[in-house]
Amino acid sequence: MAKKIKAPKHVPHKRENIESEYVLETRNLGISFGGLKAVQDVNLKIKKNQVYGLIGPNGAGKTTVFNLLTGVYQPTTGSFYLNGEDLTGLSQEKINRKGFARTFQNIRLFNNMTVVRNVMVGLSNQPEYKCTLFESIFRLPRHFIAERKMRKRAKELLDIFGLLDERNNLACNLPYGKQRKLEIARALATNPKLLLLDEPAAGMNPNETEDLVNTIKYICENFDMTILLIEHDMKFVSGLCDQITVLNFGTVLAEGDTKEALNNPEVIKAYIGG
Ligand SMILES: Nc1ncnc2c1ncn2[C@@H]1O[C@H](COP(=O)(O)OP(=O)(O)OP(=O)(O)O)[C@@H](O)[C@H]1O
Ligand SMILES: [Mg+2]
Repeated sequence: MAKKIKAPKHVPHKRENIESEYVLETRNLGISFGGLKAVQDVNLKIKKNQVYGLIGPNGAGKTTVFNLLTGVYQPTTGSFYLNGEDLTGLSQEKINRKGFARTFQNIRLFNNMTVVRNVMVGLSNQPEYKCTLFESIFRLPRHFIAERKMRKRAKELLDIFGLLDERNNLACNLPYGKQRKLEIARALATNPKLLLLDEPAAGMNPNETEDLVNTIKYICENFDMTILLIEHDMKFVSGLCDQITVLNFGTVLAEGDTKEALNNPEVIKAYIGG
């Protein structure tokens, strides 16, 4: 990446909710860094329980879209909505509390915590596992009950990702593919309405990738989850996403049905050119 430019100041935006049948809807979402339009006019429409793909060559603006949707950057144009609620301009923390969870292109885990603890951190914000600071400091019974319930749930989640046997190992000691899965498990533990996965299959071997396709399908069906994912592995994308948006140089090159978009000559040219 070229020299990082400080993200532009937020352009005041009057938040207004809309009628929307989509879990996520973006309208002309965009951001410029200095003179560079990193992302412009992105209009996503993602239905409940859908696994939607965001693809494009390196530097196309995919991760920047995630950074806009999670409040890391404030858009310089456009807006975005979760079930019709305008979240444009909110802080990362607020957006997270509204129900967005993400994983990162460069894995971010609590490396010196055990695998099970990493997932418990994800669970800890949920009301059913909460206890007061007083109860925790003085180790009152409610603290232990919450802790036990949380550990049980964390183990169930790890089992889904085939990580149960690793639960007492440090996150940093896991092989790369398993770290990626752990990051997804932790994001899922926050019980989001929308899960954003940035290159979840990167660095995985074909068996691990196939395994992940099945796990993501399982999550969608059993957790009532909606997923937006960025991925370079086209087999992975085709196996999971019925619809995609293709970005190139920050603009939308194609969108809609996955097969059609992937066969679009402009898309093929962008990839071969890249
Ligand atoms: N803070 C920033 N300052 C300057 N330029 C930035 C900044 N953030 C992103 N960009 C630029 O925006 C463009 C899109 O970057 P982005 O990381 O979103 O691409 P990407 O599609 O995720 O690529 P990759 O597939 O390599 O991960 C690039 O040209 C990048 O250099
Ligand atoms: Mg990226």
